[in-house]
Amino acid sequence: MKQTVLTLNNGAKIPQFGMGVYMVPAGEATKQACLSALGMGYRHIDTAHAYQNERSVGEAVRESGVPREEIWVTSKLWPSEYGEGKTMAGIDKMLSRLQIGYIDLLLLHQQVGDYMGAWRDMEKAVAQGKVRSIGLSNFESERLEEVCEAATVKPAALQVECHPYYQQNDLKKRIAKYGTVIESWYPIGHGDAGLINEPVFTELAKKYGKTNVQIILRWHIQAGNVIFPKSTNPKHIRENFDIFDFALTAAEMEQIASLDCGKRFYTATLEEQERNFSRWTPAD
Ligand SMILES: NC(=O)c1ccc[n+]([C@@H]2O[C@H](COP(=O)([O-])OP(=O)(O)OC[C@H]3O[C@@H](n4cnc5c(N)ncnc54)[C@H](OP(=O)(O)O)[C@@H]3O)[C@@H](O)[C@H]2O)c1
Repeated sequence: MKQTVLTLNNGAKIPQFGMGVYMVPAGEATKQACLSALGMGYRHIDTAHAYQNERSVGEAVRESGVPREEIWVTSKLWPSEYGEGKTMAGIDKMLSRLQIGYIDLLLLHQQVGDYMGAWRDMEKAVAQGKVRSIGLSNFESERLEEVCEAATVKPAALQVECHPYYQQNDLKKRIAKYGTVIESWYPIGHGDAGLINEPVFTELAKKYGKTNVQIILRWHIQAGNVIFPKSTNPKHIRENFDIFDFALTAAEMEQIASLDCGKRFYTATLEEQERNFSRWTPAD
């Protein structure tokens, strides 16, 4: 089983598949999920300051026995740490929580606050070797182009909600000229039963001897998306990774493309995002 790797616009090679730890409690839960994944061959973990479990991710990376350079770790800065000067201090604090030497990919978590000042500090952090690649998360308004046009270092990745009900084809066209790749959050709709049980997935699961979730994850891989489904269940962690020994046909990819219906699970407007995300400061 050979997992796939994508080459980003700065030449860095990102494992296309990993594990996310959103809503996984800090401490043993996060550490054991990461150790279990790394032990099975996962080489990519997606965390964030806001998830409050970066220390546990760092512990797992250090204790896994896998060489640091073989593991890709992404984390995200919360708007409370945006601003030129302030963001560099936030990156230093993140590095001291993670204790893994450098961050493979650092994202601005939300499109609110002083994101332009934050981006300038992130570019400096790349020059200083603290961070290897930088990108954005949830920038779907015109603020996406505002950052991309001003950037000296163009965003390597854009992490957004993306699954068969919301395939982000327009957004992919908008970022194509910057060479930015899409990272899909909620790749299986946060476990939504309606999405997972779509008849087309059941039919293809039967054909390939796979589960419906594996068919969805395989679709993401062939659609060029980076994915990191979350699980704390070792059976699911193993199952989710077991998607590199089969391929959907072009016709099957088309069948899944036709599920795109504009349905998203997170629907806050930009104004609501401004209000919600400016109120909270994650603990250090
Ligand atoms: N940038 C952002 O704003 C943002 C927002 C949301 C998420 N994310 C990132 O994206 C990652 C993935 O998103 P997500 O965790 O919210 O949703 P998800 O990966 O789409 O779904 C996770 C849910 O599906 C279940 N699940 C996992 N594998 C399964 C399987 N094989 N069969 C059945 N159920 C399965 C999990 O339960 P079990 O644990 O019981 O397996 C969990 O309840 C996050 O962890 C995070 O890293 C980023």
